[in-house]
Amino acid sequence: MLDMLREKFDEVFGPGGEIRAYFAPGRVNLIGEHTDYNGGHVFPCALTIGTYGIARKRNDDTLRFYSLNFEAMGVVESSLLELVPSEAAGWTNYPKGVFWAFEKKGYKVPCGMDYLIYGNIPSGSGLSSSASLEVLTGLILKDLYGFDAITQTEIALIGQYSENQFNGCNCGIMDQFASAMGKKDCAIFLDTSTLQYEYAPVVLPDAKLVITNSKVKHSLVDSAYNDRRRECETALKELQAVTDIQTLGDLTEEEFERHKGAISDEICRKRAKHAVYENQRTIKAVAALKENDVEEFGRLMNVTHVSLRDDFEVSCPETDILAELAWKIPGVIGSRITGGGFGGCTVSIVKNDAVEAFIDTVGKAYKEQVGHDAEFYVVEIGDGARRLV
Ligand code: GLA
Repeated sequence: MLDMLREKFDEVFGPGGEIRAYFAPGRVNLIGEHTDYNGGHVFPCALTIGTYGIARKRNDDTLRFYSLNFEAMGVVESSLLELVPSEAAGWTNYPKGVFWAFEKKGYKVPCGMDYLIYGNIPSGSGLSSSASLEVLTGLILKDLYGFDAITQTEIALIGQYSENQFNGCNCGIMDQFASAMGKKDCAIFLDTSTLQYEYAPVVLPDAKLVITNSKVKHSLVDSAYNDRRRECETALKELQAVTDIQTLGDLTEEEFERHKGAISDEICRKRAKHAVYENQRTIKAVAALKENDVEEFGRLMNVTHVSLRDDFEVSCPETDILAELAWKIPGVIGSRITGGGFGGCTVSIVKNDAVEAFIDTVGKAYKEQVGHDAEFYVVEIGDGARRLV
């Protein structure tokens, strides 16, 4: 793979100079959904699929981008002196956003770059291809320009900042954090209110993680996401009038039930209920996993799906079908929609000897009910963003 990317780099940008190679993974979240902007916990892991980047400094202010995923766009040029998002810039708005964010955070990028990327995360799947591109770019800027003091956590924060401020999606920290900080065979138990984290081994002795791609991405994902965020903020403000909390993550289920009457709008109350219960569920699920109680972990995943469907309303018919089909199959320990929602993927824990039947049965029934194929990936948990050569 790297040889091919290096050859392509030479072909597109010309050979010579110091050329380096990097990788940043996508992620799947096991539990803790829509909690990361509510001061709650998340439990994502990095995947072994992600985005590769080959880069070389230039001696002018020009940025030249090329993606093997968007070859028809050819080389997209931009300038360090003119970092503004535009529709025409397409995918390059993500790396441009990170250059912009570095400057905003006080890291003056001294010169331009030739930058080739290739990603093997299925596009639109909700497995964080954009976060992986942001983290990849942050790591490259740190390494190529010698910003040695920047930590992996800071790379994640800069990526999130660029997505919020440059690309207009008000996302939380989970995706970038997972891509920057992932660890092989572990999920990251992250408290998003403090950024304290702990690696928890995901030991599934006789089971696999299977991601099922619904192959739908409903429109208005970003705007619906931003709406959810606002609804949670409204609920928090009303709760703060009756109880001393900083975030929805500060509440237990009992405290929420006691105070929920303060939230005047029924929709906002449902959103807040999900955020509070999901955070507590995540804490319980990680405790269960640590006790090797994978069954309980899976049961909690299923409850999460129902909460995302009924209270947070970020599911959609296609992902509901996938989860419901999965729940009926013997050997499926847990299954739920994962990520931001409105399409994308489900994540399931499936016993080894049921994986084939799972793919076959869910695949056929999904096609029958929805009209197109789902895609299945039996995934491994990989390490976070790193330089390769
Ligand atoms: C998207 C966002 C994350 C997180 C999830 C939902 O992936 O980028 O920050 O909010 O949705 O859990």
